[in-house]
Amino acid sequence: MAQVYEKLHACYESVRKITDFQPKVAIVLGSGLGDFAKEIQVEKEVPYSDIAGFPVSTVKGHDGKFIFGYLGNVPVVCMKGRVHYYEGYAMSDVVLPTRLMKLLGAEILFLTNAAGGINSALNAGDLMLITDQIACFVPNPLIGPNEDALGTRFPDMSEIYDHALSDIIRDHAKANSISIGEGVYAQLTGPSYESPAEIRMLKTMGADAVGMSTTVEAIAARHMGMRVCGISFISNKAAGLSANPLSHEEVQQAADAASEKFCRLVKDSVLAFGGLA
Ligand code: HPA
Repeated sequence: MAQVYEKLHACYESVRKITDFQPKVAIVLGSGLGDFAKEIQVEKEVPYSDIAGFPVSTVKGHDGKFIFGYLGNVPVVCMKGRVHYYEGYAMSDVVLPTRLMKLLGAEILFLTNAAGGINSALNAGDLMLITDQIACFVPNPLIGPNEDALGTRFPDMSEIYDHALSDIIRDHAKANSISIGEGVYAQLTGPSYESPAEIRMLKTMGADAVGMSTTVEAIAARHMGMRVCGISFISNKAAGLSANPLSHEEVQQAADAASEKFCRLVKDSVLAFGGLA
């Protein structure tokens, strides 16, 4: 078996020594959105550093642990902190946590991130339902030998973001009077933010928001047959679209301010996902 998959299975065994919890929904919390973890009735927390070989995040504000527990009676696993390609990990390591959560039982992946708004309708503090993505500026996470037991060599990506899950998010946004935009999320490697010319290029290509995560996790998840949905929290207007230079602190402060509506929407949506077959 290829090294990538040996490592994945070793991480699986390592977690299974700590807990036999079987999540149904996996939730990845983006920059500054970690408050959501408070909503979970915790059964077990597993710091990434306790999992042999697991990629550990180096970004300030990314705690780095799996939280296993319940939202209502829906068993969930929540990633508080993710690793990014710009930290220097191989792309196979960046998506290892996603694959691991599927092996542990999760059928649904709820991705969240902080992103820069490209579409002029998106302002700092807004939420955007991700309807599709542009991943071709980062290496594909499936490059390398394929593990047929996980998924097919050439997986279809014509509906990455699940329509039924997205409808549930829309319905719960409406029921909670939370306004939510929709659009295409583009991933670049970072860690530098984009130049205004790059933002103009992305806009021409059909991107509505830009960030440094998410699309590769979505590809790895679809490869394994997970159902995927996602919300971007628009922490700032993308480069060149506002007078201010971008800073990581600004991203985190904006996320704190929107934390309540974000938590309510994700929680209500996951409770509804629990009712799906
Ligand atoms: N660009 C890239 N990533 C980001 C941004 C941005 O403007 N905001 C938050 N994450």
